[in-house]
Amino acid sequence: MSPSRSGVRKHCTISRLGLAAGAALPGCTWGSGFPDPASSDASLVALLAAWMFALGFLVLFVTLGLLLVGIGLQWRGEKRLSPGWARSLVLGGGVVAPLLAVAAISASGMIISSRTEGQTAMPGQTIRVVGERWWWRFQYLDGNGEIIATTANELHLPVGRRSRLHLISENVIHSFWAPNLQGKTDLVPGSVNTLAVEPDVAGTFRGQCAELCGVQHAMMGFLVIAQPPAAFDAWLARQSEPAQAAEGDGPDVFFEYGCAGCHTVRGMDATGVQGPDLTHLASRRTIAAARLENTRDNLRRWITAGQSAKPGNLMPEFSLPEDDLAALLDLLEALE
Ligand code: CUA
Repeated sequence: MSPSRSGVRKHCTISRLGLAAGAALPGCTWGSGFPDPASSDASLVALLAAWMFALGFLVLFVTLGLLLVGIGLQWRGEKRLSPGWARSLVLGGGVVAPLLAVAAISASGMIISSRTEGQTAMPGQTIRVVGERWWWRFQYLDGNGEIIATTANELHLPVGRRSRLHLISENVIHSFWAPNLQGKTDLVPGSVNTLAVEPDVAGTFRGQCAELCGVQHAMMGFLVIAQPPAAFDAWLARQSEPAQAAEGDGPDVFFEYGCAGCHTVRGMDATGVQGPDLTHLASRRTIAAARLENTRDNLRRWITAGQSAKPGNLMPEFSLPEDDLAALLDLLEALE
């Protein structure tokens, strides 16, 4: 599914207006990343970026202008500016202008931050975002703070409803960044940062960890799937259910090789928490933190040769007989 271009275009117009002062843009077709806003928050961030670009160019042009003035004076044989001019230039260009620029950018930044932080009393879905090494755990909470569904590397959000993200980490600092929807916010061990997200259009967007967090940092990606509210509600209801009873030898293989020590499958008595919850693995589009498409071949590769797909990842490679592997893949593909 691709984002609705008409909805996105409205926001592009806003960011282009801001950027017009600084640079001619080749349209808003910079791929799925920044600045192609699909939410009003991301539009604000794009506007701030445009404003900073414009100011940067202004400073560049003024500095080049002064350089030309100096060259002109030299050419006319004048050794120096009059003392009055020199004082005005130093005070105006060196003190007043930078102070104004920094104050304006700080004020815009603070206004945008106050708008995009998730307020504690805000209505809407609360989702706990846990930064793992090196993937994302998304836990959907009910009104009492109890977990109703857990997924990995795929964040579903309702369009037109504000959701509140609680960002936590128990290892190192990560940074949550879905550039089409919101600015970056860090996940800092020992604290809970909050962020509000509200997509304006349905679509699939790419997210990425934006803080160097170890060997797998560059491959710590995720997908955001923004859905109409009814589709989101149906998805969440489905995710909150346990896995359907599995057929074949898959469950035996799953326990025999210790998969349950690291992975939870609700409904199958597998309660490991080190790795992603696999209860509805087959419903996800990717595996390995958005590194691989979720296909049988890639599941096989991930189990038997995962280090070649994501060097340094914490899941060991398994060597198992072909019939056991086939039964295990059958099980994983049945976890819809
Ligand atoms: Cu997590 Cu970079």
